[in-house]
Amino acid sequence: MASLPEVQTHFPLRPQFQGFMKPSGVEGDVFNLEIQGKIPDDIDGTFYRVMPDPQFPPFIDNDPWFNGDGNISAFRLKNGRASFKQRYVRTEKFTREREAQRALLGKYRNKYTDTVEFKIRTTANTNVVHFNGKLLALKEDAPPYALDPTTLETLGLYDFDGQLPSLTFTAHPKFDPATGEMICFGYEAKGDGTPDICYYRIAADGTFLETVWLVSPVVAMIHDFAVTENYVVFPIIPQVCDIDRLKAGGEHWQWSPETPFYVGVMPRVGATADSVKWFRHPNSFPGHVANAYEDAAGNIIMDSGLSKSNVFFWWPDANGNAPRPETIHSELTRIVLDPRSDQLDITPEQVSVLQGPNSEFYRIDDRFAFKSHRHVFFDAMDPSLGTDFPSIAPKLGGGYPLYNSLAHFDAETGKTEVYFPGRTHMVQEPVFIPRKGSVEEGDGYLLALVNNYDTMGSELHLLDTRNFAGEALAKVVLPVRLRHGLHGNWVDAVE
Ligand SMILES: [Fe+2]
Repeated sequence: MASLPEVQTHFPLRPQFQGFMKPSGVEGDVFNLEIQGKIPDDIDGTFYRVMPDPQFPPFIDNDPWFNGDGNISAFRLKNGRASFKQRYVRTEKFTREREAQRALLGKYRNKYTDTVEFKIRTTANTNVVHFNGKLLALKEDAPPYALDPTTLETLGLYDFDGQLPSLTFTAHPKFDPATGEMICFGYEAKGDGTPDICYYRIAADGTFLETVWLVSPVVAMIHDFAVTENYVVFPIIPQVCDIDRLKAGGEHWQWSPETPFYVGVMPRVGATADSVKWFRHPNSFPGHVANAYEDAAGNIIMDSGLSKSNVFFWWPDANGNAPRPETIHSELTRIVLDPRSDQLDITPEQVSVLQGPNSEFYRIDDRFAFKSHRHVFFDAMDPSLGTDFPSIAPKLGGGYPLYNSLAHFDAETGKTEVYFPGRTHMVQEPVFIPRKGSVEEGDGYLLALVNNYDTMGSELHLLDTRNFAGEALAKVVLPVRLRHGLHGNWVDAVE
């Protein structure tokens, strides 16, 4: 246990705490937000998203953006109007630090650097999903926190009425659009530094259907995963954990250039610990998964981000080496795996770039999850679009990757359309909203939070996918600046 350092009253002079990244700590409600343009009447639902937003300045040096308290935004869109609500998740960390009026928690995922003993250290800051009448605020180091979807009031730590067997729960659960089943896993599932993975499927009513324990070939980060009709796929990021390093007060993660990029493949139903096959590819960084499915030949097709270098540049290798952020390049990549094969080395022929520009935060029309998809929507960075970098550079802050456009890749035509939000703007993760009454894949709207570095405020941009590269249908102007966030989801009012 670390001793109590001096109280910090201001955030550090580090890029991740400056400019647009300055923590705001805002909670509240705004009704009838300003709308430029028109929100179509058939849109009726709520866009939930979460951002790391530290309540108190950290006492440790160079605290990464990922370590901030989860602050959840809810944008209610109905009858052409938009309103906004924002609340912190009342985690154990948040509550105890508010009582103490200071930061108590130490380094990212290192309990040995804390000043008090926490039962649960999570910040619940990575994703927010709607399941069985509750909102679940997720971070991959702990069980979910449950919230009321209407009030955003924290209901408490959620272990599915005692059914959850794992100490951890992924921030990227997958939902079967046919059954509502939630497919999940936890890694380091028996505690920090353990190689154990716990895989579980949960019926739409919250009943656990199946649990499988397996062992990872390396104790490393498994941030996102993929599900098909018959398989689950675990891509492992070569950021490795070592318990002795943790005990010595070091970082949870260290980039490991000598570790291959492992991809675990296992039957979705009825697997045992021995069912998993660990495919291998030369060291690279797997990003977020757009979707996966099985083709007619029985191969698994997984579309996801892939980078040759360490995207989490703030966790360098053992020698302190990390790429410069501006050199990191993640591409939408298709990986083809034969789940029946015992040839575990992934060949270069099995890996193909679908879309070259630097991109991330891939989303699809979720009604087509686990099935062959045609449309992928994502954040992209294309400096040639005309972003006014000299004027916004002093306001950007840092510690996270920047994307200046929203993109739509059509896997059938191979073409990409781009929406450019403006010369002083950067985009956050989009969500797809189906058009009411339409069953055509990708027919609807794309909604994303946009950072405006001219006004230093946030905006929601709403696009019609039938006119993706044209003018936005509507821009919702917020009276506040929302820090760069991670993930979110659209929840239709009928749900
Ligand atoms: Fe993620």
